[in-house]
Amino acid sequence: MTGLYLGLMSGTSMDGIDAVLASDDAGPRVLGHIHHPFSPALRETLMALNASGGDELHRAAQAANAVAMGYAAAISALLAQTGKSAADVTAAGCHGQTVRHQPGAGYTLQLLNGALLAELSGIRIVCDFRSRDIAAGGTGAPLVPAFHHAVFSHPQRSRAIVNIGGMANITCLPAGGEVSGFDCGPGGALMDGWIMEHQHSAYDAGGAWAASGKPLPELLERLLAHEFFSLPPPKSTGRETFNLQWIRNALTGGAAPADVQSTLCELTAAAIAGALNMHCADAAEVFLCGGGARNDSLRARLGERLPGRRIATTDELGIAAELVEAAAFAWLAARTLASEPGNLPRVTGARGPRVLGAVYPA
Ligand SMILES: Nc1ncnc2c1ncn2[C@@H]1O[C@H](COP(=O)(O)OP(=O)(O)O)[C@@H](O)[C@H]1O
Ligand SMILES: [Mg+2]
Repeated sequence: MTGLYLGLMSGTSMDGIDAVLASDDAGPRVLGHIHHPFSPALRETLMALNASGGDELHRAAQAANAVAMGYAAAISALLAQTGKSAADVTAAGCHGQTVRHQPGAGYTLQLLNGALLAELSGIRIVCDFRSRDIAAGGTGAPLVPAFHHAVFSHPQRSRAIVNIGGMANITCLPAGGEVSGFDCGPGGALMDGWIMEHQHSAYDAGGAWAASGKPLPELLERLLAHEFFSLPPPKSTGRETFNLQWIRNALTGGAAPADVQSTLCELTAAAIAGALNMHCADAAEVFLCGGGARNDSLRARLGERLPGRRIATTDELGIAAELVEAAAFAWLAARTLASEPGNLPRVTGARGPRVLGAVYPA
């Protein structure tokens, strides 16, 4: 990766757009970043597109335009903030907004009008990274483990990277061994949904509400019985599987909302810890990234469930937790333009390494 790249990520939590300006002239470095929240209206539109409904082709096309306009505004603000212009940037790696992820049915859908974004930004756009991996028989996710391996691995220390967004995924980086990774279950999406329903907040800041309640052991046990948790990798998941309706179906009535929140926090911790114990047993260092790394209750519960391991955030490794995934898409765009593969077949189950993405020239 030489030159300047932009990386833009909007994940399953649907909180908005994280954008970074990155360079690799002295190791991958983030030179600037910005977060643009989605407007409540766009968030609602995108959330509704996670399920079938009337006139959805038109609604999806309009939403893809709105996402492109949001990405363009984030790019413009980030360039102004860093004193750069479009001409300084080699390309922007853009994730788009997942509204369906159905590798079993042969597709995944990240809404983003790449042509419109190239037109609005004057920058070469690389997007639709996941489809090629699925075309090659993979699950299309997670794609971040290759980046985690490139920037966070250590020759003598076995590490694990845990990305906690709306869903959570794990990358195992054994010292001198082969990288592996998979989605391990829900990240913050269930906690976000529950606190929105009961307290009208977008997320549980610091996990304070979860900390005010007590986990409900029977509910936790019912939720952990979901077959996804015991499936062997490769595996990936999304809102199709882990959503509030699933929680409502598991509730027997009479539970205090704060105790349910506490249980959902425990569920995320248990899913992550279980996956680490099963697949990254020798990783003595666990680095958290994604917005969920800022959930103190979740970190405390992870600490309890992972005795003997050091739990930290990727801030320590030089990339702030909330910027890692956007930085990964800047890196993936550079891989694409260099005709280098971006997927790891061991992780996604694809038939082989593939150069990912679709390119819209500036
Ligand atoms: N201070 C915080 N305390 C608790 N949770 C947080 C905090 N900041 C962010 N989060 C969580 O992180 C999520 C966003 O993380 P992000 O990495 O952007 O996920 P995604 O890629 O799915 O959008 C929020 O929805 C929220 O659940
Ligand atoms: Mg996000």
